[in-house]
Amino acid sequence: MDDLTNEQMMYLIETAEAFRRGQKQLTRPYYAANLFFEDSTRTKSSFEMAERKLGMNVISFDAQTASIQKGETLYDTVKTLEAVGLDVVVIRHGEDRFFDQLEGRVKLSIINGGDGMGHHPSQCLLDLQTIYQEFKSFKGLNVTIVGDIHHSRVARSNAIALKRLGAFVQFSGPKEWMDDDLLAIGRYIDFDQAVETSDVLMMLRVQHERHAFGMTFSKNEYHRLYGLNAEREKRMKQSSIIMHPAPVNRGVEIADELVECSRSRIFKQMANGVYTRMAMLQFVLQQREALKHEFVN
Ligand code: CP
Repeated sequence: MDDLTNEQMMYLIETAEAFRRGQKQLTRPYYAANLFFEDSTRTKSSFEMAERKLGMNVISFDAQTASIQKGETLYDTVKTLEAVGLDVVVIRHGEDRFFDQLEGRVKLSIINGGDGMGHHPSQCLLDLQTIYQEFKSFKGLNVTIVGDIHHSRVARSNAIALKRLGAFVQFSGPKEWMDDDLLAIGRYIDFDQAVETSDVLMMLRVQHERHAFGMTFSKNEYHRLYGLNAEREKRMKQSSIIMHPAPVNRGVEIADELVECSRSRIFKQMANGVYTRMAMLQFVLQQREALKHEFVN
């Protein structure tokens, strides 16, 4: 997200909207693979759906049975897929900035499907698309990101992009889970105050797997202090929406009955994800063609 200009972000949102309306593009069949070294349901399946909707050929890749298990490096894995003839790979990896070891060393295009506690660009762009559909602008919107901020690549990507596009970003949840870097982007706000004043409440998953010493709260205690429950939902502004990147810990960060309530855009976000990822794939492949053209000329 740091590398995209505001104009490129808006271009991707508008391209995603065009794909949602039925636009079809991509002139030749391209080859893609999705390399997921961390678990995923949404990102992996929707990248694959996006690739198929664009008419791309999807080469299967299973990290559990790939030669990475025999000690092959990420670089050698990607270089191999390039040699085999792939045009683009989507990579999710547990290491922050895994792409640094690939940048400038491979010719195929790489899309970040989530790097450690770094960034999650496709989630960010689909979140932007969802907010844009709702409010038609980001300027002056009050967006509060709530919960496990420190471990969240979604929080990082969204906070940076939303602020750049003119939204007023705030953070809430346990103070000990905040991130000093992000608090330079937006202030901390008490959760009950955020519930009543935010246009967008972006609830985050409590990432149990990244808490090295276990959770400091019981699930019930977390839900009571920082969870979005029916009583809090009633105090939200009439036009406000609820978002969550999912997977959802039902009954922890959000009450079970609110996951599909009228304010919730959680499944809308997932549906938008396919169009956002189509836009991203088209964008990187167009850039690749432009670079090839520049090289030939
Ligand atoms: N939101 C998200 O990244 O979900 P997955 O981990 O299932 O891909």
